[in-house]
Amino acid sequence: GLSPAAPGPLSGRHALVTSGPTHEPIDPVRYIANRSSGHQGHAIAGALARLGARVTLVSGPTALADPPGTTVVRVTTAREMLAACQQALPADIAVCAAAVADWTVTHPATHKTKKAAGAPPPVLALSPNPDILANLAAAGPQRPALVVGFAAETEEVVAQASAKRLRKGCDWIIANDVSEAGNGGRGTVFASPDNTVHVITAEGVEDWPTLSKDVVAHRLAGRIAATLTDRAA
Ligand code: CTP
Ligand code: CA
Repeated sequence: GLSPAAPGPLSGRHALVTSGPTHEPIDPVRYIANRSSGHQGHAIAGALARLGARVTLVSGPTALADPPGTTVVRVTTAREMLAACQQALPADIAVCAAAVADWTVTHPATHKTKKAAGAPPPVLALSPNPDILANLAAAGPQRPALVVGFAAETEEVVAQASAKRLRKGCDWIIANDVSEAGNGGRGTVFASPDNTVHVITAEGVEDWPTLSKDVVAHRLAGRIAATLTDRAA
């Protein structure tokens, strides 16, 4: 909204958060997407706003309400998400929680593709999408001081996520185990209110207990505020 941010440890800071999936159209009625409710990203945006940050939330399609105190920019595709993020710069903090589709359909059909009796199924040609997190982490003078990514993994969770942190050039990676076992045997994390994460920084790995996504957001926002306050001191 347009109301000024509440005072807090992140007053005067601008935070950019991505959330939700992206949808890559196949034709006017079909798309490719990743599984994501947007719950974790939206909760982080809200938690940063409660600590006083001005928050731009760039969100793919979700069923969620806008978190209070944030400015929400709605996008559909990964390319639109990257453009919206670049437009939102400069920012002090970037948190990339979106489940961005890795590929887009090279030639989406302008009309609905119809089944024809006996015809073979269509074959989709895919092209790689831009990496929004890597772009923000390599934004030169526009690079946010703290760039945080997520890594959803099903095996060797911490090792894969640590490699991802270095590959993408971000400061922290929040790794979550999206295998069913990684969510305490309660099914996958996607539809769950809970999340079990490891916070991977240059200093090492913190294992957090299984917490609600809202509590993960609150703790992460607090850790971000403490880190920026320390650096400024
Ligand atoms: N991400 C992004 N843009 C992309 C792909 C990923 O911003 N095109 C961000 C996600 O928001 C997340 C982090 O990068 O913060 C890691 O996403 P993930 O899908 O785990 O990484 P990938 O590099 O796409 O690797 P993988 O092959 O495991 O999917
Ligand atoms: Ca990916």
